Amino acid sequence: MQIILGITGGIAAYKAAELARLLVNRGHRIRCVLTEAGARFITPLTLSSLTGEPCYGANPDQGEWRANPSIEHIELARWADLVAVVPATANILGKAANGLADDLLSTVLLATRAPVLWAPAMNTGMWEHPAVQANLVRLRSFGHAVVEPGEGALACGEEGSGKLAEVASIAEAIQAQGTPKLRSLRDRQVLITAGPTREDLDPVRILTNRSTGTMGIELARAFRDVGARVHLVLGGEAPAPWGVETTRVHSAQQMLEACLARWANSDGLVGAAAVADQRPERPSPEKVKKGEGPETLVLVRTPDILAQLSSVRRPDQWVLGFAAESEHHLEHAMAKLKKKGLDAVLVNDIQGGRGFGAQASTLTPLTAQGPHPPLGPQSKDQLARAVVQWWAQRLEVRPE
Ligand code: C5P
Repeated sequence: MQIILGITGGIAAYKAAELARLLVNRGHRIRCVLTEAGARFITPLTLSSLTGEPCYGANPDQGEWRANPSIEHIELARWADLVAVVPATANILGKAANGLADDLLSTVLLATRAPVLWAPAMNTGMWEHPAVQANLVRLRSFGHAVVEPGEGALACGEEGSGKLAEVASIAEAIQAQGTPKLRSLRDRQVLITAGPTREDLDPVRILTNRSTGTMGIELARAFRDVGARVHLVLGGEAPAPWGVETTRVHSAQQMLEACLARWANSDGLVGAAAVADQRPERPSPEKVKKGEGPETLVLVRTPDILAQLSSVRRPDQWVLGFAAESEHHLEHAMAKLKKKGLDAVLVNDIQGGRGFGAQASTLTPLTAQGPHPPLGPQSKDQLARAVVQWWAQRLEVRPE
């Protein structure tokens, strides 16, 4: 993407440098536009060095303006696939909400047809002021996205809301805002399970597996980016992705209950969790003492979440599963597809330890008609995007 990064005058302006670098590393082209106050906090040299692109100032005598300054804002507005203002002060929010345009950034904001994203940062009193909140309502009504500030210690010495959101979250929001939406998934409710489940043996011991949850979390991001409303039911410790409603669970039973509570309101389910297949028959409320001689642990089966949800689905709901197989992977996956009543299975060949936490992976989509050309090998974030594109195409032609 070609991104204009507007930087206004707040102490968090230094974090825009980190964001610019992160976005450049992800392959985006970034041109920074500083307001006059922004340029007091961070220099154009820092930003142009990080981005390898010119950095623009508030007016013709500041930063780099070309031969015909009167159309610079139009050229920049057309160049942008997305305009992000990070950090955004109360002042620029007020100007943009009311159509005021008296410097380069505010004129670009008025001229552009690209999506706009705001990451506000300011003192708590300012943030909570009805004028600022009313301006945000107005900006949202223009279709702009807002990455809400977090809470914490602010530069002014106060503690409260108004702290610039995490740079990583802003980068995710930019990615989401800038990704083209897919008709078959836009505004659809997608339920995703991810991560390992944990079954208690006693208060200190658990039965679990090596799943990192990465694939399911990347799928949640990829569905979110194309416009779906994602609800993630997540086991394990991995952080929840930005912009995805997440329910954290511990055991398979909890994962099932969280999914059942949402299923009627969902259009589809992606079962990417590595659910523990067994749990101890009788978890002990106290730590189990070691005994003499051989010890036995009696295990019972956990519920099959995918199979249970699939068995109560409506005809308009779709269900995707995963299969990690180390041998005869397509035959085993086809058996799973039929047994669990799935629309498709994404088959992961884990022979030789591939799959779990591995960097580059390959997935072979399998439907009742048979296998489809494999997706990958690629990193899990790209693979997740490929899965979403593949499935969206099939949904386009699927009878309702
Ligand atoms: O039967 P198997 O565990 O190989 O099936 C894998 C698929 O089923 C995955 O999509 C996984 O998320 C799902 N699954 C489930 N509940 C279980 C076991 C697996 O939803 N108890």
